[in-house]
Amino acid sequence: MFDKLKAINTEFEQAIANVCSNEELESLRIRFLGRKEGLITNIFKDIGKIKPEEKPVYGQKINDLKNLITQTIAQKAKDIEQVSIELAQSKGAEAFDLSLPSFKNETGAMHPLSIVTDEICTLFVEMGFMVVEGPEIETEYYNFEALNIPLEHPSRESFDTFYLHKKNLLRSHTSPVQARYMEKNKPPIQIIVPGKVYRPDATDATHSFMFHQIEGLLVDDGITLAHLKGVLSVFAKKLFGTKTKTRFRPHFFPFTEPSAEMDVSCIICRGKGCRVCGGNGWIEILGAGMVHPKVLKSVNIDSKKYSGFAFGMGVERIAMIKYGITDIRLFFENDMRFIKQFS
Ligand code: DAH
Repeated sequence: MFDKLKAINTEFEQAIANVCSNEELESLRIRFLGRKEGLITNIFKDIGKIKPEEKPVYGQKINDLKNLITQTIAQKAKDIEQVSIELAQSKGAEAFDLSLPSFKNETGAMHPLSIVTDEICTLFVEMGFMVVEGPEIETEYYNFEALNIPLEHPSRESFDTFYLHKKNLLRSHTSPVQARYMEKNKPPIQIIVPGKVYRPDATDATHSFMFHQIEGLLVDDGITLAHLKGVLSVFAKKLFGTKTKTRFRPHFFPFTEPSAEMDVSCIICRGKGCRVCGGNGWIEILGAGMVHPKVLKSVNIDSKKYSGFAFGMGVERIAMIKYGITDIRLFFENDMRFIKQFS
């Protein structure tokens, strides 16, 4: 009888060594500990066949074997669980398939507005101008009054904007930087001012509530309209080509007197007349004029001693002419297919 116990023990040790899964473990458990036909259960039935004095020892031995088998099976269940966790983790590592092609690193490109702004500023820097910037959140004073646009004056409407708290607003042009700069610096002054401006315009192919301008200001002893025309004509030739002609039409701006708009001969048809220039051969690109004595006075510059000229242009408009872009909204949609065409 005791040999039978030993044989079961040996059989169990061999069987459990080959178990790899929970299913195998469960069938092993049924084979040895199953209530109906389990080897241990069956062996209890043999108890009646042995001598009464051996019964307690025999019973004890069966119980010991049963406990050993029960504990070994429990331990094996834990081992199987641990192995399956490790397997899952190592599978996770394999999820990085090194043979897959890598993600493409998109290279960016200079935005066409940055390209044009840089180009224009560089042309003026070559002529001795210095690049200066000013705040986009401006006060009513600098956006209007300092530039000779009083509260009740109808020209305020053309420079209308978005109003913020406490008489602050989003600047509607870069001209306020003229006044800010002249308050702190005295002639000779020769600056170029790029920046964002805002207007409450409904968006369409040629209007945007936010766009970019470049302002210019030159103030010194004895500056005349001839200087203005000379500098701006050279600028137009450098930007659009040496054959470019310029013309100045009288216009009104509150901060300059006299004031003008400058046209360039159409860069597409060279003045013959086409769709881009509306058939008349000329394209308007900027506003300009001689700095109004009242503007000089508001910044304490003596207009009897000094005079100057100023000008302002829209960067989007120039970029659209230069590159043949027909919709201003393209600049602000961040579509790389558009932006990459200019790099
Ligand atoms: N500030 C004007 C505008 O936004 C442009 C301008 C015109 C600027 C004439 C000037 C100037 O400095 O002299 O329409």
